Amino acid sequence: MSLNIRAFTGESANQYKSSLAALRIQVFREFPYLYDGSVEYEEKYLETFIQSEESVIVVAFDGEEVIGVSTGIPLKNEPTEIQQDWINGGYNIDEIFYFSESVLNKDYRGHGIGVRFMEEREKWARQLGYKKAIFCGVIRDETHPRRPKNFVPLDRFWEKRGFSKKVGFTCKISWKEMDETEESEKELQFWEKDLV
Ligand SMILES: CC(C)(COP(=O)(O)OP(=O)(O)OC[C@H]1O[C@@H](n2cnc3c(N)ncnc32)[C@H](O)[C@@H]1OP(=O)(O)O)[C@@H](O)C(=O)NCCC(=O)NCCS
Repeated sequence: MSLNIRAFTGESANQYKSSLAALRIQVFREFPYLYDGSVEYEEKYLETFIQSEESVIVVAFDGEEVIGVSTGIPLKNEPTEIQQDWINGGYNIDEIFYFSESVLNKDYRGHGIGVRFMEEREKWARQLGYKKAIFCGVIRDETHPRRPKNFVPLDRFWEKRGFSKKVGFTCKISWKEMDETEESEKELQFWEKDLV
């Protein structure tokens, strides 16, 4: 393995759009996301991301090959359904940076790349003067039929990185799940970390 992790923004990030889409489709098929990805959905999703001047794509390479991608964007550039609970809660959304996702090829997990993804995005958000980092994770029932027996939630991983659950703050995002014929809303739980 020859691992290398680099952050990109603006025009230089565009070249990694297709890698991000491919990894999202591959990795988010797994529980708990169960995303039955399509190119149309990905194009719409990535458009928001590319139009933001302050978004970041952190790319993990093995040699020349992209094996993981992690992204972040100012909350003000996200759709209203992501912002809503923060606005309702009296927060200044201009001060909040949203971590959109981390998707890493299975073969490369457990080598500290997930930690680096967090560190690089935090560094980026701090440089731009953001005061808080947030992200959200899908809420799944303990008895969900597709939950693998050995499934370990990422809660401990996130807590160790200094994040805590933001009680009562959730959002709804629609995607088509593997067992569905069309998109439906899923509820996601917010997590937060103060950067100052
Ligand atoms: C999240 C993800 C990027 C983590 O990447 P990773 O490189 O394997 O993580 P690291 O090697 O940096 O692990 C750091 C720590 O988290 C723990 N950890 C990593 N993945 C874990 C998992 N799936 N469940 C529980 N703990 C996990 C490791 O044991 C390690 O613990 P330590 O700090 O006590 O040693 C990767 O598991 C992934 O792509 N998952 C699927 C997509 C996903 O759920 N993304 C997050 C939401 S968008």
